[in-house]
Amino acid sequence: MSAIPITSADRRAAIAGLMAEARERTLMLVDGLSDEDLHRQHDPLMSPILWDLGHIAHFEELWLTQNLDGLIEFSEMPGIYNPFEHPRATRASLPLPGLAEMRQRLAEIREKVLARLELTDFDGANPLLSGAYVYHMVLQHEYQHNETILQTLQLKLGEPYHPGTSYLVPGGRSQTAGTWNQVPGPAMVEIPGGEYTIGTDDRAAAYDNERPQHAVSVPAFRIHRNPVTNGDFIEFIDDGGYEDSRLWTAAGWKWLAESQCFAPKHWTRDGDDWIARTMDRVSIVDSRRPVCHVSFHEAEAFARWASKRLPTEIEWEIAAAWDPDRGALKFPWGDDDATTRDANIDQLSFETSPVGAYPRNVSPFGCYGMIGDVWEWTSSDFTGYPGFRSFPYPEYSESFFGTDYKVLRGGSWATRPGVIRNTFRNWDYPIRRQIFSGFRCASDV
Ligand code: AVJ
Ligand code: FE
Repeated sequence: MSAIPITSADRRAAIAGLMAEARERTLMLVDGLSDEDLHRQHDPLMSPILWDLGHIAHFEELWLTQNLDGLIEFSEMPGIYNPFEHPRATRASLPLPGLAEMRQRLAEIREKVLARLELTDFDGANPLLSGAYVYHMVLQHEYQHNETILQTLQLKLGEPYHPGTSYLVPGGRSQTAGTWNQVPGPAMVEIPGGEYTIGTDDRAAAYDNERPQHAVSVPAFRIHRNPVTNGDFIEFIDDGGYEDSRLWTAAGWKWLAESQCFAPKHWTRDGDDWIARTMDRVSIVDSRRPVCHVSFHEAEAFARWASKRLPTEIEWEIAAAWDPDRGALKFPWGDDDATTRDANIDQLSFETSPVGAYPRNVSPFGCYGMIGDVWEWTSSDFTGYPGFRSFPYPEYSESFFGTDYKVLRGGSWATRPGVIRNTFRNWDYPIRRQIFSGFRCASDV
């Protein structure tokens, strides 16, 4: 996210610009979908897209109008767009309006928000406004629901989703066929044991779960230089990885028996070839790209097959962020904001890219592709860092702490740049694979 300038007028203009840009993208993604496709529940795991749109609108209204004027205890909004009252699988039966009405609602709320923004005092005592935090939170919320909508579009029933030609920008979808420049060096990078810092104290944009920054002491470890590719994963499949119970945990083996999975989601067999579909593109699986749409259990089984393990999220963050001279960096390439020149992010590629396609996407320790392409499963449960304090509401992070969810790091091609950084923590159930998820392995030294 861009640094916000100092004067209030500049700050308001910058925020309004970011909000307009976020909305333009949201509407672009759903442009051209039929009313039926927008209302439909394409998968029990996903909301109807109109629900995401209404939820984006009402979340913005809640935080940028109502809550700015003095609620004490923050929570999610009441009504049909409350995610806790209405589980995803039930959302198609809610009385959702059509797209025209929804656009009207989004615009009305935005008008109120922009009027309120003119009166906003960023230098007062309201902790929501210090560093323009609540505006960044609402922006990041819209960005995250964009990725959710893309998961839904990948699961779309009927005709596959066709990304509109209007946004095939230069450097976009066509570029990801990019040249093969695999990062040289051994397959695994060795990282010395010692004291590192994890997390951040940023209060302008970081989520509560990224705070506080704290010291950790870790033994030396190795971590894959590159994410595990389709080619690597096919070796695991060919070697009988899905049939060998010794490679799976009890929970993983149970999931496999129930789900009957035999390859990453969206893969099918065609003679000797594996075919994958990404949105409306169907092609032979490209062995050079990171494997995508695998569950935590599949990642773990692969790691065991390779006599390795998944990294902890702490190891992952050290490998992505730590510079022996400068300490923790915000991105593998430094502290400059993420752009589509640095990594395969921001959605418009609509697919993963071959490993090595982004020469700047290398961390000081020499790991490629920690940001973008695929979220990477880690072995860590989603919990609060030592000294965690919920802010500004428990339903973003704290309600999900415990042993049910595993942490994923690094963002995917479908992640907007404003909602990814080395400290960002995503989480999901270990069985999920409709998300754009892959992994890399680690091992002890
Ligand atoms: C951080 C991606 C797990 O989608 O459940 C969206 C993000 N939180 N609205 C989710 C989120 C509230 C969250 N994840
Ligand atoms: Fe949400």
